[in-house]
Amino acid sequence: MSGIVVVGTQWGDEGKGKITDFLAEKANVVVRFQGGNNAGHTIMFEGKKFSLHLIPSGIFRKETLNILGNGMVINPKALLEELEMIEKSGIIDYNLAVSDRAHVVLPYHLILDELFEDLKENDKKVGTTKKGIGPAYTDKSARIGIRICDFADLEVFYEKLKGNINYYNKIFKIFNRPELSLEEIYEEYKLYSIKIKPFVKDTGIILNNKFEENHNILFEGAQGSLLCLDHGTYPYVTSSSPTAASVPLNTGISPMLISEVMGVTKAYSTRVGSGYFATEFEDETAKKIRNIGNEYGTTTGRPRRIGWLDTVALRHSKRISGITGLSIMLLDVLSGIETLKICVAYRLHEDIIDYIPASIKDVEQCEPIYIELPGWDEDITKISNFSDLPDNAKDYLNKISELTGIEIAIFSVGPDRTQTIVLKDLYK
Ligand code: GDP
Ligand code: IMO
Ligand code: MG
Repeated sequence: MSGIVVVGTQWGDEGKGKITDFLAEKANVVVRFQGGNNAGHTIMFEGKKFSLHLIPSGIFRKETLNILGNGMVINPKALLEELEMIEKSGIIDYNLAVSDRAHVVLPYHLILDELFEDLKENDKKVGTTKKGIGPAYTDKSARIGIRICDFADLEVFYEKLKGNINYYNKIFKIFNRPELSLEEIYEEYKLYSIKIKPFVKDTGIILNNKFEENHNILFEGAQGSLLCLDHGTYPYVTSSSPTAASVPLNTGISPMLISEVMGVTKAYSTRVGSGYFATEFEDETAKKIRNIGNEYGTTTGRPRRIGWLDTVALRHSKRISGITGLSIMLLDVLSGIETLKICVAYRLHEDIIDYIPASIKDVEQCEPIYIELPGWDEDITKISNFSDLPDNAKDYLNKISELTGIEIAIFSVGPDRTQTIVLKDLYK
């Protein structure tokens, strides 16, 4: 029995979808525990490519149960569209459960996401995915959210929707936005409710039973540690916690059931949206990385900002999630770069520091301190063993392990499922 958490160690898009799909081969259950369709997880196998936003990346394995946990915010329309996309590609034999305690993303959340961003001054904008995630979590903590159990009961749904639409229409009026029609939204979402109802379960109970039956459970984080609401670069973060600590609360299991934490990292760094990014650079090398790594957002299509690998960020992620193994992704993208830089510490005024300061004012003044390593020219996309790597690539991986104090469990040399090399098996 194993409870393995897959966490992003950077600013998201580290390749969590690819690793989850890969590890799902030995998992009985795959669980998304936070976020919503702000996530975009890419999976490639047998010449096919999928972008998943809400559905866990275990969906392609027909024996695997896929759970959308209670900590998620779920846009029902987006979920049904994603299921349709999966079914059209021939995957009809899937196993899915949606937590009755998860929250529902409704049309007013999307409008509010846009409105709140518009109201902020330029440098205060978070650059959200505009999927309504922040406003849905705001409703949850304000105790006016509509949960999946309410959504599945049409009488309760109508009453709660009525209350919220009345409430938000008052706000829309102040900002000269068109008011929403209760009846129109209800008629549309009633159909989604009927379609989603068969999947609605108490997933906390299911998960606890699966652990008792000694099954392997994989928890698929969305976003990344530096986007964590509590431990990220606040306020340029998302509205949930993508850390391993978030799993028990957001799925209904005991913290004692987590046995391993797989930290997923790119061999360099990227970020989409606003916020300071110490190792960011923009030159011909960054352009090359963006092109070869196809660094454009899976959800929004925005070009991703590029930076060198930042081990201060990785050690921060290790501290907050207890990472026991690293998956180093997109190593192939670095082929052909003469000199590679790794950030080992920050200079903040007169001090050398090894942490991410809480104050964004301090964060913005952190200067990265680098070491340099020689790169390699060889194409590594077809290798299948660590020993096949050029010496400089081996040294690069070993240096990351040494600087983070984390063993490398997997490294990846291409987007396909087969381009994955395992050095340490995290399953018991
Ligand atoms: P996620 O959000 O963490 O699941 O990551 P995304 O799917 O948003 O972004 C990762 C991107 O890198 C996707 O386009 C993947 O297909 C791609 N990818 C993953 N691993 C590798 C790799 O080792 N090499 C290359 N070249 N691409 C990879
Ligand atoms: P995956 O799971 C990268 C970023 C947004 C923005 C901030 C807040 O694919 O790694 P939100 O819409 O959540 O309120 O936006 O967080 N962001 C992501 N960046 N990958 C993601 O998910 C992200 N999800 C949110 O760009 O800066
Ligand atoms: Mg992504």
